[in-house]
Amino acid sequence: MEKELKVSAIKNGTVIDHIPAENLFKVISILGLQNIPNQITFGTNLESQKLGRKSIIKVSDKFFEGDEINKIALVAPQAKLNIIKDYEVVEKRVVDVPEDIVGYVKCVNPKCVTNFQPITTRFRVIGKSPLQLRCHYCEKTTCENQMVII
Ligand code: CTP
Ligand code: ZN
Repeated sequence: MEKELKVSAIKNGTVIDHIPAENLFKVISILGLQNIPNQITFGTNLESQKLGRKSIIKVSDKFFEGDEINKIALVAPQAKLNIIKDYEVVEKRVVDVPEDIVGYVKCVNPKCVTNFQPITTRFRVIGKSPLQLRCHYCEKTTCENQMVII
């Protein structure tokens, strides 16, 4: 039986599927999708066997370069990228946690310089499961359960 699509198919571009429903807008913000002129459609609170409820984003005529997409691994570790060409899925990719996180996680240390001066945060990933990020500036570790996306 044909599946019903809740969000229309796209001709060319990237479909980011299996985003936890509550993190849709974080993914949009981390990728800066609010600033690009491409056509974008999305759905949220869709049923998912794996996640319970998921979000999906479809960006027409956009093909993410290299590890650009890995930035979303912190908020959508199970996300799957589908590259669409002429309506067909030509490639599927998973996301991988990058070695460095620049600019979208808050340092847990209230005394860290990044929390009182306009300095971009910067961390090295020292553990992946659970996530542990070491701040480049104060060397304190921010753990997964303390993570705040900025
Ligand atoms: N899709 C789309 N436009 C197309 C082709 C596919 O928007 N022209 C979307 C589908 O709606 C789906 C995703 O791309 O959300 C992946 O498509 P497909 O591999 O056909 O779906 P599934 O087999 O359900 O993928 P998976 O189980 O890997 O998540
Ligand atoms: Zn710090």
